[in-house]
Amino acid sequence: MSALLEIEDLHVAMGSQQILRGIDLTLAEGEMLAVLGANGVGKTTLMRTLSGIYRARSGRVVLAGRDITNAPAHRIVAAGLAQSPEGRQIFSAMTVRENLILGGGRAGLAELDAVLPLFPRLGERMAQLAGSLSGGEQQMLCIARALMARPRVLLLDEPSLGLAPKLVRNIFELLARIRAQGVSILVVEQNARAALKVADRAAVMEGGRIALAGAAAALAEDPRIVAAYLGGHV
Ligand SMILES: Nc1ncnc2c1ncn2[C@@H]1O[C@H](COP(=O)(O)OP(=O)(O)OP(=O)(O)O)[C@@H](O)[C@H]1O
Ligand SMILES: [Mg+2]
Repeated sequence: MSALLEIEDLHVAMGSQQILRGIDLTLAEGEMLAVLGANGVGKTTLMRTLSGIYRARSGRVVLAGRDITNAPAHRIVAAGLAQSPEGRQIFSAMTVRENLILGGGRAGLAELDAVLPLFPRLGERMAQLAGSLSGGEQQMLCIARALMARPRVLLLDEPSLGLAPKLVRNIFELLARIRAQGVSILVVEQNARAALKVADRAAVMEGGRIALAGAAAALAEDPRIVAAYLGGHV
């Protein structure tokens, strides 16, 4: 059986600079894959290319058997892939409700009932301006907004960035619940320890390539991962 999301030999360049140099990755139905890697290795570039924000120079992205390589971003969302971008990009001057409805596309309001049970704190703050939410609440809003598109694949770029350890745990518990509802997840994370605990598989990027990939539990004990990403001790 082929994977839900297949990324084949993906190359992305910015001018003469090669950023992605042949990425091969698959995401199975119902799986959570964590992408780890140092600053500047191309993680966000990969996410933006999958979402149709950046163009691939070569290679393929196939979602549920459909080639979505370099398709317009709205078509990619409609095909079932939605992104919660790096840096909590919400509309600060709009309410929580308005932010959520913007993520819902044509389905709009109908999706709120499906998404809100996962986010009780947002449910209590529907009329609050998004800019006045706490950092953790803004991150929740960002994830909830992506889910409003009813994606089969959810992309998350650094969901735990800048959050206190307790909130990091909350975010990963939430991701596990989202996965349990059948959404497949590709998550970029600096917090390797938290990501490897919850993810099924993980891939490590170096210099625009996948340097290492495997079961998350195995990578959490791999000496190279422990030394580079887990502070030298398991
Ligand atoms: N639009 C762009 N124009 C020019 N260069 C870009 C562009 N987007 C990304 N890059 C370059 O591509 C490289 C990879 O950036 P990217 O944001 O993908 O890294 P990252 O792995 O997400 O890093 P971080 O962990 O810091 O978020 C960087 O050198 C960056 O400057
Ligand atoms: Mg990034």
